[in-house]
Amino acid sequence: MIGDHRDSDEFSPRRYFDNAATSFPKAPPVAVAMQAWTSGIQASPGRAAYAEVTTSAECMHSCRGNLCSLIGTTDPNQIIFTLNCTDALSLAIEGRVRASRRTGKPIHIVTTAMDHNSVLRPLRELEIDGINWTCVPADPHTGLVCPDDIAAALTADTRLVAVNHGSNVTGTIQAMTDIGDRCRHADVPLLVDAAQTLGHRHIDVHKMGIDLLAFPGHKGLLGPLGTGGLWIRPGLEELIAPVRLGGTGSRSEEDVQPTMLPDRYESGSHNMLGIIGLDASTGWIRSQSLSTLIEQDLAKTTYMLESLLRIDGLHVHGPHDPTNRCGVFAVTINGQEPADLARRLDAKYGILTRAGIHCAPYAHATIGTLHSGGAVRLSLGAFTTSDDINAAAEALACEAAALHCVGVQS
Ligand SMILES: Cc1ncc(COP(=O)(O)O)c(C=O)c1O
Repeated sequence: MIGDHRDSDEFSPRRYFDNAATSFPKAPPVAVAMQAWTSGIQASPGRAAYAEVTTSAECMHSCRGNLCSLIGTTDPNQIIFTLNCTDALSLAIEGRVRASRRTGKPIHIVTTAMDHNSVLRPLRELEIDGINWTCVPADPHTGLVCPDDIAAALTADTRLVAVNHGSNVTGTIQAMTDIGDRCRHADVPLLVDAAQTLGHRHIDVHKMGIDLLAFPGHKGLLGPLGTGGLWIRPGLEELIAPVRLGGTGSRSEEDVQPTMLPDRYESGSHNMLGIIGLDASTGWIRSQSLSTLIEQDLAKTTYMLESLLRIDGLHVHGPHDPTNRCGVFAVTINGQEPADLARRLDAKYGILTRAGIHCAPYAHATIGTLHSGGAVRLSLGAFTTSDDINAAAEALACEAAALHCVGVQS
């Protein structure tokens, strides 16, 4: 059971600071909606015409509509459901490469040092097949990438720019509109990884010049694990080949993949239970107003940053300016293994964090923590309270002070 391994019960309820991995708790109506669908409906949309199928299809359509409204766009068919953000990024990268290969021209892709392994690993794999890519460096203190450096990395062969919006290590938020301008100017599609920002910060795909937006449903959108999506700018589907092909319930008389969206990219039965939960969570976010949730998130991020910066001996990586960051904090204490610190935070204080490299080796190389066990990451969510933040700051202050005392005595 959760918490069994802790030193005492004194610190329950648990204080959850791992929202960058997946949010907890989920939005209030999620469990109820999933339970109701599981016990009463369980039908696969598009596969028949009875009432339960129609109800499932309506929920799916409603979920696409909610997602569109949260990213500043309108056409629900441009939202492709995926398993998670990794799956959305893979579809965008591999689909773009597959379509580009058909032109017979060389392929070059640009990404950044702040990107996640779900971008880096597909690129490393594609390298084996002769695809070239450039990794644009970031500032070691802030994690910011200069938009002009991205522009300078573009060549006549560049087919895609893939950029992380909010770092899952340092919380750094990139200047996306400026990056979008550079890509638009060069006529190169821009893929944005919004794993840490959707639900936490405003995203307007049109204003930001985004062509492909990959997002999880289970982090800032407060939906269940196993959900995510890719928004494709209308018209761009011609430049993105499908990578998972098969039955869609549409055009069944044809043995070729349908060209219309979303069917072009959504083969096989959906994770309908997950989508029901995501429809409930995104509906809840709309009912609360995304802007209100973002304002609260900004206030908590500022408070957390100020609280951490006051702790002697604690190194807070990434931007010290709250306007350049989201609520993801990487911290280290000199002389302390991040994994040990995370274990103590859990066992002694009931504070749940994640230590290590966070699937972002270049981001850790940028901030200088790749070869020292990474960092301890604390990440905020919609339900993190100021009491939680005070508790985390106190625990970190105790740990930093304890280490300092041991160091002085020995
Ligand atoms: C920046 C970033 N990109 C991509 C991913 C992958 O997301 P998912 O877990 O939904 O596959 C993560 C996960 O933590 C992430 O932080």
